[in-house]
Amino acid sequence: MNARVDGTGLRGVSAGTTAISSVGADGKALRYRGYDVAELAARSSFEEVAYLLLYGELPTGAELEAFRDELAEARQLPVDLAAVLEAIPASAHPMDVLRTGCSMLGTLEPERTFEEQRRAATRLIGALPSMLLYWYHFTRAARRIATASDEPGAAAHFLRLLHDEPPLASHARALDASLILYAEHEFNASTFAARVCAATLSDLHSAVTAAIGTLRGPLHGGANEQAMALIERFTDAEAAVRGVEEMLARKERVMGFGHAVYKQGDPRSPVIERWAEKLARDDDSRRKLAVAHAIDRTMRERKGLFPNVDFYSAPAYHALGIPTPLFTPIFVCARVAGWAAHVFEQRADNRLIRPSAEYVGPGPRPYRPLAERA
Ligand code: COA
Repeated sequence: MNARVDGTGLRGVSAGTTAISSVGADGKALRYRGYDVAELAARSSFEEVAYLLLYGELPTGAELEAFRDELAEARQLPVDLAAVLEAIPASAHPMDVLRTGCSMLGTLEPERTFEEQRRAATRLIGALPSMLLYWYHFTRAARRIATASDEPGAAAHFLRLLHDEPPLASHARALDASLILYAEHEFNASTFAARVCAATLSDLHSAVTAAIGTLRGPLHGGANEQAMALIERFTDAEAAVRGVEEMLARKERVMGFGHAVYKQGDPRSPVIERWAEKLARDDDSRRKLAVAHAIDRTMRERKGLFPNVDFYSAPAYHALGIPTPLFTPIFVCARVAGWAAHVFEQRADNRLIRPSAEYVGPGPRPYRPLAERA
């Protein structure tokens, strides 16, 4: 007999095995292929982590150099993809731009056989930031930017394309750490969507497109944008405490807090919180951080809830001069490495994912022709 899981959102149900990451050991640990995420964020680079996720081991110096070269080449967009990006309205949400861009790339450079999966994954990791920033500058300033740069890492490349100047090393390092934190998270909703798609033996672009659509929602990736909107609502810490207490009294959700798996704390949160503190150099950033800390204290005291990775990502990204609508797309640019690794893993030992449902609708009844229905 099947276990019944209605209304539980499948919490606590093991839906398969994975060797890519482990979430929530001891209520708070996160490891990518056995490596602690905080140590990776402190000591490695996003490219090393992407390689680890895709290939199973950390790269040697030569392997990393070759992988970086491949990623740098993958930043160039095909002209037909650029033309599609130009047709997307400025009013579109940037997540929809990435969803469309990923799908379009799949028509121009389809993954014809699974032998091509590594090429297709590297291409997506390199091209997604380019798609986002090409569309962003075209629709904001009618500028067709060059999406190549000589920055070796995705983080510095992203900031350079966004701000049109080489980033400070500390800014590139902060974004790099954030990409590492966002790169992978076991069977979260978007990764599970990617695996369900991959299990039909569909192509990588379809799996990633499904994942982007799933990540878009405010209960998943969209929480970092909502956290920023919340922080911006308050002028100072006192106003934030009052405002959050009122929200809780109205039983509203405070975005960026709580987690479906971690019950004692999100190990990514202290890492990005420290970066948010380091980056807060001007009055505006310092004020936003003070508001964020006040919200955090109030949530811990009143609800016993801790911030998840999305909460302090908001003031950190703000201090890097990143516009709020680009927050969740940055999550995509990182998580695509994890999604691709899961697609590879699913394919390596595949079975169609097809759970059953317990029917709770009306019992059997005869059909009444249209003319007899009032
Ligand atoms: N703000 C206020 N209350 C919250 C909350 C939040 N962010 N997160 C959980 N709670 C409360 C719920 O209201 C519920 O309280 P109740 O038992 O009195 O009804 C209790 O905590 C359990 O919540 P539940 O939604 O069942 O837990 P979950 O495991 O399904 O939730 C999330 C996980 C992430 C969906 C949830 O914490 C949430 O909505 N957070 C905000 C969105 C967010 O930050 N998402 C990014 C996740 S990385």
